[in-house]
Amino acid sequence: MASRDVMRSTARGFGRYYNPDAGGALRMDTNTNALGPNPAAERYLREARPDINGYPNTYSDGLRDALASLYGLERENFVAGAGSDEMLDVCMKTFSDWGDACAVPVPSYSLYNYFIAANGGRAVESDLTPDFQLDVDGIARSGAKMAIAPSPNNPTGNAFRRRDVEDLLSRFEGVLVVDEAYGEYAGGSMIPRVREFDNLVVLRTFSKAYAMAGLRVGYAAACGDLADMMNSVKIPYSLNVLSEGAAVAALGDQGFIERSRRMVSEERPRLSAGLRRLGFEPFPSDANFVLARSPVDHAALVGGLKERGVMIRDFGSKRRTEGCVRMTVGTAEMNALVLDRIADAMEGMA
Ligand SMILES: Cc1ncc(COP(=O)(O)O)c(C=O)c1O
Repeated sequence: MASRDVMRSTARGFGRYYNPDAGGALRMDTNTNALGPNPAAERYLREARPDINGYPNTYSDGLRDALASLYGLERENFVAGAGSDEMLDVCMKTFSDWGDACAVPVPSYSLYNYFIAANGGRAVESDLTPDFQLDVDGIARSGAKMAIAPSPNNPTGNAFRRRDVEDLLSRFEGVLVVDEAYGEYAGGSMIPRVREFDNLVVLRTFSKAYAMAGLRVGYAAACGDLADMMNSVKIPYSLNVLSEGAAVAALGDQGFIERSRRMVSEERPRLSAGLRRLGFEPFPSDANFVLARSPVDHAALVGGLKERGVMIRDFGSKRRTEGCVRMTVGTAEMNALVLDRIADAMEGMA
């Protein structure tokens, strides 16, 4: 048996990431878009005939140009790659040295700690306030080399107060990564502010509102200098030619994003109200998912729902989200089905 001593020391404690056997279950556990796959991207994939013998453009210039025109910035403000997960990895590789501290809010996206440790860094946890807002003073005084602020935050769902993020950017001496994976649902973005702050990196993804998680596309926006540093470090060609083309096509259909946003803003309050009627305590959300404290055992609920063909995510054993589960906001039909299955699973539970 091979000893784990062969591994990089900071990665020895790693286990595998969430990888459930979904069967044919309704996936309300990954916060993808309940309206279904991105239509413009699907059309592109049906019709495109790219030269797959050639490498893609080294830095995905086609996508970076499309992003520059969407945000009124320059191509050189963008870095593109295989999901915002790759962008997180690139941030760590670019801005964090061996042993450097990176401030991570608790609770937040579990892969932050993975990317920090995988790159030899040290996560310094910064508890969110009781209403899940940033501890601006704590992070500003942490002396960390980097900090991450996911807004809206996963799994809590709330966006951070804009003035807190701005305050942090002014006071924090390291690089602040604002992860806007769910930004399309919250409205507003820190991306235009990269002109103003030379310590700001904003991440976005095509996996959530853009409904193309399977194609793995994400990007970072930053001032030209930071973006150039990141582009020099990232793996060349990491975004494949089909995914890049599909992302450009998807950017051209902002109507789909608008419809997705509208569906979530109409259905989220209904889902939360339905949960409340069943005895849950849902937290306020600016994203396409809701975190809610369960009136019954969280693990039994998630297991019982899985048996009934619906998957939601269990956060009940984690600090600050004790007893909580997280579920994606679906269409009216999906939410009705989910609430019905929850009621069914809860029958007979303590
Ligand atoms: C807050 C947050 N950031 C980043 C990601 C990663 O997204 P991607 O699919 O672009 O790698 C996720 C995915 O769930 C997320 O919730």
